[in-house]
Amino acid sequence: MTFILASNNKKKLAELREILSELGIELLSQSEAGLQLEVEETGTTFEENSRLKATGACDLLNLPCIADDSGLCVDALGGEPGVYSARYGGERCKNDIERYEYLLKKLGGAENRAAKFVSVITCVFPNGESIVCRGECPGEILTAPRGENGFGYDPIFRPEGMERSMAELSADEKNAISHRGRALEKFKAKLREYYADK
Ligand code: IMP
Repeated sequence: MTFILASNNKKKLAELREILSELGIELLSQSEAGLQLEVEETGTTFEENSRLKATGACDLLNLPCIADDSGLCVDALGGEPGVYSARYGGERCKNDIERYEYLLKKLGGAENRAAKFVSVITCVFPNGESIVCRGECPGEILTAPRGENGFGYDPIFRPEGMERSMAELSADEKNAISHRGRALEKFKAKLREYYADK
């Protein structure tokens, strides 16, 4: 079975590919499928943006397309950066490091450092049916970055129950507890049900 990931993010592709290979699914990126598409993320929820991306690719490729919309929600910042995680700080932040430094500055010495990563995975099939799963990983924002693994805000996030930051975990350790890993666990179960009903 071939599925397409509606994303150009290589790190996301590697994480999802590894987990979905357990189901015998070959996951290709949209560019590997010959599609150059940048869907405008106009939604205000992870669910809306995830569906926009999956539907945009499925309409053009006519294959099952998966999209992940994810981000970091910080309690003391009213849920920011949330769906704007990839573009947090706008023009003033050019890369992941500048974005997490911006977040650390905004949060300052706040005592409440509670936060969570959220991932919503949507799979849209050419017949219009879809599967939607949400995964969350609660934790807290560190006062300074730690670790080199992962991507995005991983160096400043410590998952609940862990001593290390997300960027200090191996890929397998991260997949076992991450928002995306959890959403995918649900996705795998729903996909099995989906095909069992056919
Ligand atoms: P999306 O491509 O619109 O879903 O943007 C997701 C953004 O959220 C990424 O660019 C990262 O900044 C952040 N993000 C999502 N998942 C993770 C993760 O697993 N670790 C660190 N940052 C993440």
